[in-house]
Formats: sequence, C-alpha cells, structure tokens
Amino acid sequence: MEAIADFIPPMPPRAAGAPSALGGLLRARRDVLSIFPADAYRRQVFTTRLPGRLILVANAPQVVREVFVTKHETYQRKARFLEDALKPVIGGSCFIASGEEWSERRDAISPPIHPSGIAQFHRAFVQAAETCAEAFAGATGPVDAAAAYAAAISHVLLLAVFGDAATPEEARLIAETFTAYQEEAEVVDLLALMGLPDLLGWWTKRRALRLAADIRTRVARLMDRVGPDGGTPLLKALRASPALTGEHLLDEVVMFLLAGAEGAAITLTWTTMLAALHPATADRMAAELPEDVSDLSALMALPFTRAVIQESMRLYPPVAVFARQATQPDRIRRWDIREGDLVLAVPWLLHRHETLWEAPNAFRPERFLGDAARQRPRFAYMPFGVGPRICAGAAFGMAEVTVFAAVLFRRFRFSLAPGFAPRPNCRLALRPKGGMMVTIGRR
Ligand code: HEM
Repeated sequence: MEAIADFIPPMPPRAAGAPSALGGLLRARRDVLSIFPADAYRRQVFTTRLPGRLILVANAPQVVREVFVTKHETYQRKARFLEDALKPVIGGSCFIASGEEWSERRDAISPPIHPSGIAQFHRAFVQAAETCAEAFAGATGPVDAAAAYAAAISHVLLLAVFGDAATPEEARLIAETFTAYQEEAEVVDLLALMGLPDLLGWWTKRRALRLAADIRTRVARLMDRVGPDGGTPLLKALRASPALTGEHLLDEVVMFLLAGAEGAAITLTWTTMLAALHPATADRMAAELPEDVSDLSALMALPFTRAVIQESMRLYPPVAVFARQATQPDRIRRWDIREGDLVLAVPWLLHRHETLWEAPNAFRPERFLGDAARQRPRFAYMPFGVGPRICAGAAFGMAEVTVFAAVLFRRFRFSLAPGFAPRPNCRLALRPKGGMMVTIGRR
C-alpha cells in the first residue's frame, strides 16, 4: 500500500532557550509543553533546580525503565501537586494512592476491567458511540469534538458502572464539570509547586472545591439511585471488595468515571483532528472499517485503524507529563536525588525524541505496522505509562476508542471549522485549548 506523505500536525512553538526555573514555571502555568527548548528533544536526562528541590527529567528509555520499573518503590508516589490537584475529586483512589494503600486499591479495581472481560462492555461502547453519531448526523454547524467526546465517553463509563440508570445528559454534566475543574485546579497546583504561598488562589481554590464536590454528589446520587444491590457487574465487584467501603468506594467509582473517560476522549479528539487534516488517512481508515461493529475482536484486529490510534497517542499523549516524588534518597546517573525531589518522564518529549524516532514530528501511522513496530525501543512509547502503575484500563481504553473510531470514521468526513486552529495545551492532560471545532459531513 502507498505510504502516506509526511505531514506535520500542529504543535506549540518551542522555547528559544532553557528558561530559568521560575520563568519556566510561570510559562508552565499556561502550557507545560511550551517550556521545553529544542535540545530537550535530544537529551537523555536534564535537570532544573527550584529552591530546595531538584526536578530531573528521565528522557531516555533506559532511564525511564530505571525510574518506573526497577525503582518503582522509590518513585511510585505521584508528585504532591498532582495529589493535591486530584484529591478533592477522587479522594485517595488508586490513581493517586501510594504504598500499601495503592496495592490494596489496585488489587480491588483491576479484576473488573481485566482485558479478558472487556467484551462485556462492548454494548456500552456501541450504545454511546451511536448516540454520539446521531448528534453528529444532526449537526447543522461546527461541533466541538472535544466536548462531544468527553460527554460520549463519560456516557460509556456511566453505562459500564451504572447500566441504563445513567443518562447521556448526566454524562455530559459530569464531563463539563470535570473540564471546568481542570481549568481551576491547574492554577492552584503550580503555585504550590513553586513553593509560593497561595495568596491569590483562594478564590479559584474555592471554585475548584465546589466543582469537585459537585462531581462527587452527582456520582453519589447515582449510587443511591441504583441502590445497594443494583448497578452492573463492575459496580458489584467494586462493592464486594473489602478494601472499598464508604467513601473509598465512592473515590474509586469517581476515579473510574474520570480516569476512564479522560484518556479515551482526548485520544478520539486528536485522532479526529488528524483525520480532518489528512484526508488520505481518513479514507484509508474508512475503507478498512466494517459496517457491522458487533465483533469486538475483529475491530481490535484492524491494523491500519489501530496504527492511526497509536500514532495519534504518540503525537498527542493524553498524559503528556508523568511527575513522581522520590520517597527516599537515590542516585540517577550523576545526580543525587533527595527525598521529595521530582522525577519526571515526559511522553511529549520521548514520543518526539530525535534519537528515537525518524521524522519525529511527522504523522506516520506506518510506524505501528508490521516490522517497524517491532523494532521500536521499549520504554520509548508510553501512552498508558509503564511499570507496576501502568494504566489499569488500557485494554478497556483501546477498545472504547476503537469502537468509536469504527462507528464514526466510516460514516463521517471531518474538516476543521473555517478559521479554527487547533492548539495543544497541557495542564493535567493534553487537551486542545479552545476545543476542537470541526464540521461534519456524511461519507
Ligand atoms: C485511551 C485511554 C486511556 C489512556 C491513554 C490512559 C492513560 C493512563 C495513564 C498515562 C495513566 C498513568 C500511569 C502512571 O501514572 O504511571 C493511567 C492510569 C490509570 N488509568 Fe488509564 N488511560 C486510559 C483509559 C483508562 C480506562 C478506560 C480506565 C478504567 C476503566 C483507566 C483507569 C486507570 C487507572 C485505575 C489508573 C491508575 C493506575 C495506578 O496508578 O495504579 N484508564 N491511565
């Protein structure tokens, strides 16, 4: 098959040089990706020193392996600013817990989303994708695909946890509230990272806490509605776990709804942008996709569609920065790490690293086909993370994205709305600033 000509999709401008620690953090408030200068895409390890704290970026596969796999015990704890940013919404859930608490919670939440049981969610994937397709078919003007996918994928997760007791409208409200929460929470956590007192942040913090409480109340109400014995097998399995009682159960359910929705909705958003900007790819995907989406394993085996999704997650990893705090002293290469220092892996850099990828900024789904995929260095590609804390829902996530792709890309032709320019913007996750405005036509 003919190779797709190189196409460089949108990316933020690179910094002219290494910023000062404070200057970098001030810029990072608006967009973390804008702080990296050109040589960050070539170096193996680099550091910045804040007052009393070192930040080290693990920027080579073997260093990523060392931090996330070999030294998991030392670097399993998420950075404090992430804990602070997420705790109001997801409490002490698996996503931010560490140590014994993390192991217990990870053991409790993993079985119901084990890859061997993903087929049970297929009906939810198709139902939510069809609702999304109906909305797309009825659109008379530009649509914000980012908001549409956030609502639709939130619907998938609500269906997976609560079954038909959950409505698309509730899903939309939860997704919108979480988007608003991310906008507010970001300001607070970066001030905390700089070690500055949060004198001006009280107002935003208050608003963020109100949004977090709103999400938890909505989910608690759904749990009341299905009652102590109702809900899907997933909810029943969580309820049956001795590790998850009272607020802990609510923490994990909210975490499922948000962690499960965020990565998939963002992946679909960037994939839609790539399809809009590169019609040859969209046509090739549409030609591969079957009309009948009832066989999940057949959909998962479609090589080109899978490669497009993987390449989309390479160029736009939904979690573009992983931040961990050292729980004990250590040494990485020539740097002494003290307890509390931050060690980062930045998929945005690793996935575009000049020594790891040919034409790193080009959109080339072929990288993920056949031999090319097998030759890729391990730990150079980590959209789901690596090591013991790797995404617990990776199989679920790939399946939901694939089903949506199958329903939507076969039926619709996407174009960017006139005058709209996509802007990747990294806060807690890599979302497009201002959404993803597209026009939608039938194929
Ligand atoms: C395309 C979709 C998804 C992407 C790209 C994604 C990505 C990620 C990433 C990067 C992490 C963090 C790993 C780390 O910090 O080391 C993570 C963690 C997690 N994800 Fe996902 N995820 C997706 C879908 C899902 C789904 C559908 C679920 C649940 C149904 C889920 C549940 C979790 C959980 C529970 C964790 C915490 C794991 C732990 O800390 O032990 N994710 N995900």
